[in-house]
Amino acid sequence: MKPIVYITRKLPEEAIKGLENSYEVRMWQEEEKPVPREVLMEEAKKASALWTMLSDQIDRELIEAATDLKIIANLAVGYNNIDLDAARERGIAVTNTPEVLTETTADLAFGLLLATARRLIEAEKTVRSGEWQSWTPMGMTGQDVYGATLGIIGMGRIGEGVCRRAGGFDMKVMYHNRTRRSLEDVEYAELDELLSKSDFVMILTPLTEETKGMIGKRELDLMKDTACLINVARGGIVDEDALYDALKERKIWAAGLDVFEQEPLPLDNKLLELDNLTMLPHIGSAGIRTRHQMMGLNAEAIAACLAGQSIKNRVC
Ligand code: DGY
Repeated sequence: MKPIVYITRKLPEEAIKGLENSYEVRMWQEEEKPVPREVLMEEAKKASALWTMLSDQIDRELIEAATDLKIIANLAVGYNNIDLDAARERGIAVTNTPEVLTETTADLAFGLLLATARRLIEAEKTVRSGEWQSWTPMGMTGQDVYGATLGIIGMGRIGEGVCRRAGGFDMKVMYHNRTRRSLEDVEYAELDELLSKSDFVMILTPLTEETKGMIGKRELDLMKDTACLINVARGGIVDEDALYDALKERKIWAAGLDVFEQEPLPLDNKLLELDNLTMLPHIGSAGIRTRHQMMGLNAEAIAACLAGQSIKNRVC
């Protein structure tokens, strides 16, 4: 019997070609809907490898039930959806897909900054709805990006990619990070200083116990009333109730979110009432070439693990 590889979402055929000769590849057949918990539990019990999405909760209960499991390959750079302690205790390898998504995610982050600052989505709606009556001196005006100050919270590879883009806009960049980095033309700042001096605050840090809720009322109050907050990391880092109040009361000027505490965002969520919030459905790495490269890394990690070879991109 071939070892079972279970994939939690329908993928393009070519993504799994390399695995099919040696393994029994089973796949949840829906592209839009995540695999239900009970199906995932049953499949995990039989699988040697799990190929997971960031929307799958791979918790202790599931990991302990998966007695043959050797690897969890997560199709994302973030892996906060996986209980690493539980995986470590069972000797299960966990991998992610870094580097190949760096530039595309930096593109999206900078694109969301531009869209938020210059109200691109709101402006497009006026063209479609017929609200566009004439050119007006102050109509659809936003915040200037060129020459502004950008504060990056979490300076890893994606942060460096955003800095390269910010250079083209002659922005002054400061960053806050757990560890100081030696980077050219980018200044380290304590969090409060970064928040109070930046015109754009961009969150790029992973979601951990330490960063959960790190941007709340106190931090939003420190920001300029002309500032924009951009989050392309994970929803739980920003307290959404506090953000709602700050945007509603115009304590900050606008925000751009690609990530939310609950994804997909429920249609009754009060954030949807706000006109100074630009929202995207977690598409940071959604470039066609990038997604194929991410899938390639996942297939490689699973094949290497099941063949007893050394595994790249292990996070535990
Ligand atoms: C990831 O891969 O963790 C990012 O959220 C992609 O958008």
